Amino acid sequence: MSIAPRACVIGWPVEHSRSPVIHRYWLEKYGLDGAYEKEAVKPSDVGEFLGKLAAHGYAGANVTLPHKEAALRVAHTADAAARAIGAANTIWLDEDNVLHASNTDAYGFMKNLDTEAPGWKEGCDVAMVLGAGGAARAILHGLIEAGVRRILLANRTLAKAEDLAREFGPRIEAIAWDTKDAALSACNILVNTTSLGMVGQPPLEITVAALPKTAVVTDIVYVPLETPLLAAARQRGLVAVDGLGMLLHQAVPGFERWFDVRPEVTPELRARMVATLGAG
Ligand code: ATR
Repeated sequence: MSIAPRACVIGWPVEHSRSPVIHRYWLEKYGLDGAYEKEAVKPSDVGEFLGKLAAHGYAGANVTLPHKEAALRVAHTADAAARAIGAANTIWLDEDNVLHASNTDAYGFMKNLDTEAPGWKEGCDVAMVLGAGGAARAILHGLIEAGVRRILLANRTLAKAEDLAREFGPRIEAIAWDTKDAALSACNILVNTTSLGMVGQPPLEITVAALPKTAVVTDIVYVPLETPLLAAARQRGLVAVDGLGMLLHQAVPGFERWFDVRPEVTPELRARMVATLGAG
């Protein structure tokens, strides 16, 4: 009799992670005999934990802050997305005990955009990405892979945007934070990857009126679901895409690896997540 696979999310802290809600929903929905746990792993213990994943009882794991870079280093193999982004969020062991790393954040972001703003790519020549942290790296990778020709990257600390532009290549142009509004009229899509607009953070000050009227606005923040940025975009009649879908879609490839079923992101799953967001 085969043993039911178990997976987990590792982080430090990990308590806030919403991944268990997603994976447990799917385990129940598909009637699978598996489990998904939270594991608080100290930064000093990541190598040991992932190196002995099977001994800890797991077939794989999601990786959240601050372990994403370390997970990439510890894994034996990494896919192109994880290498380009420089971080892993999904780990699995194969039957030969080889530890594989992937990063599904770019996939999740693009899949959400394709689902919520179908046709966004048609005529999408120029994107603006706000922020230059880990999330921005995943979004840049996704937009480049999707074929967006030019990406303006605005960040409060310009040097960080310049570093990313050098790393991700000539399609990226770093621009100063205070020039972003002036550059919006040329942009077909605006992506916020900063923490601005999140509960407890200041709102993002930007003039969405400067965007073309066919532009798409998307935020990776999902608490609140409707950030001031998205509300302003919707009020202006623009297509606005919230960040929750990215979180749901990025979970799909990992679940399929560990539990052998490709799960669906459904309105019911989304509603379940929205209910947990309300609970804090
Ligand atoms: P993540 O890995 O989730 O992307 P991060 O690496 O901490 O998080 O990045 C947060 C981003 O939000 C950064 O681009 C940060 O700008 P800096 O590089 O200048 O720090 C941006 N950010 C955070 N607070 C901000 C603020 N008050 N105004 C403008 N940008 C802000």
